[in-house]
Amino acid sequence: MSSVEPSHGIVLFGGGGDLALRMLFPSLAFLECEALLPPGMPVLAAGRSPMDEAAFRALVRADLEQRAPDTVVKGAADRLLQRVHYLATDATRPEDIERLGKRMQELGIVRPVFYLAVSPSLYSPICQGLLEAGLTRDPARVVMEKPIGKDLQSSRAINEIVAAAFSEDRVFRIDHYLGKETVQNLIALRFANTLFEPLWNNLTIDHVQITVAETQGVGDRWPYYDEYGAMGDMVQNHMMQLLCLVAMEPPADLQPDSVRNEKVKVLRSLRPITRADVQQFVVRGQYGPGMSGGRPVRGYAEEKGSPSETETFVAIQAHIDNWRWAGVPFFLRTGKRLPDRDTEIYIQFKPVPHSIFSGESRQDLSPNNLLIRLQPEEDIVLRVMNQAPGLSLEGMRLESLPLSLSLKKAHSARRRIAYERLLLDALNGNSTLFVRRDEIEEAWEWVDGVNDAWRKSGFSPKAYPAGSWGPAGAFALIERTGRAWHDD
Ligand code: BG6
Repeated sequence: MSSVEPSHGIVLFGGGGDLALRMLFPSLAFLECEALLPPGMPVLAAGRSPMDEAAFRALVRADLEQRAPDTVVKGAADRLLQRVHYLATDATRPEDIERLGKRMQELGIVRPVFYLAVSPSLYSPICQGLLEAGLTRDPARVVMEKPIGKDLQSSRAINEIVAAAFSEDRVFRIDHYLGKETVQNLIALRFANTLFEPLWNNLTIDHVQITVAETQGVGDRWPYYDEYGAMGDMVQNHMMQLLCLVAMEPPADLQPDSVRNEKVKVLRSLRPITRADVQQFVVRGQYGPGMSGGRPVRGYAEEKGSPSETETFVAIQAHIDNWRWAGVPFFLRTGKRLPDRDTEIYIQFKPVPHSIFSGESRQDLSPNNLLIRLQPEEDIVLRVMNQAPGLSLEGMRLESLPLSLSLKKAHSARRRIAYERLLLDALNGNSTLFVRRDEIEEAWEWVDGVNDAWRKSGFSPKAYPAGSWGPAGAFALIERTGRAWHDD
């Protein structure tokens, strides 16, 4: 270990797990490559499997070679691997946490970032154990993945225990969507341009759609998924965060609390969905057998091996009851085993108040829209009306053309892993892109209300074939407002 900056260190619970191998070590290798990590910083992985350090490094190396094959990154990965350590740990046993503390001392880690890449059921015991072992004092920080709880009550219970161990400014709750470049671009688009903000309200915007469509199924993740469904797995966190960033008021600055205060206000303004309107505003579905990527795939219940009431698809019409957004519906839609992988925020503006065009050109006229696409490619496209070139007896014709900010074309750089930004910010103590306790709890409160209304109504999720865009009701939900899902 280098002696330059010996005090920083990441202590990674779940060090040999899927998240660590797939996302965290590659992110650290890329950060090392760009000299963004504190020099000489050790990474102490704690995992359940008995393994020595050499075997653990070989495991991480094998994965890194697959995910970051580039030779420059390989050099950085080699440097990083020399500083990767491993300790077989049962995080629920106090004696193991003691040993972990000793190992941290040996490695000179006095500014630890405890990263909990483990099942959420371990968050409380780990924080409790670290507290009892005296390892949580300032400047120690904790990073936690979603989901934090499965409803408001369980989320509060976890947050209480975490709060007893770490002050809120040292708690970093990850929503990896906030680490995606396009999500940060949304902040830049809104607040680094004068162009959009005056239009960003119910006078000019007709409605907003947020879609997170995935082609993959739940597969062997069902023991986790069956408890959360699409509401707990995607809506409560990723979709609520996207909604907040679209709808929030301009913060005074980018300080963590300035941004998070504005997001909380949006969550508080979300209109509760009650039993009386759940049928109108919420559609739930569960994929059955069908086709995905040209091959037959099993339905969710077959993957699970028994029938289930868990939704793998949800479409919601939400409303934000404040001055800016009164009357503007926000349509949210997410699902597994849909035809395309597509994550986007679509903002449709109102039609021009009066058309000076007549005949066919009047019919050509369509409202402007702004598409912020996160996946599969990162792209921002504003569609504007233009005069179609050419002559016709009818006179002027119009067409809608895209003004595109294709991020791939604009920056030839590789696409970053969302965790790079988040790991860097957690190490630097910047929590702007992390979720504060009250945000999580407000989001749960709203989601609990929807789940509760749904449960009381006695509906079951509607079946949809794998490879389709969800149950027919999802189309009816938006079409009865005179609108349609964006689909190009
Ligand atoms: C995770 C969910 O948080 O996000 C998964 O648990 C989902 O079910 C994933 O597939 C989607 O993330 P991304 O970055 O691939 O859109």
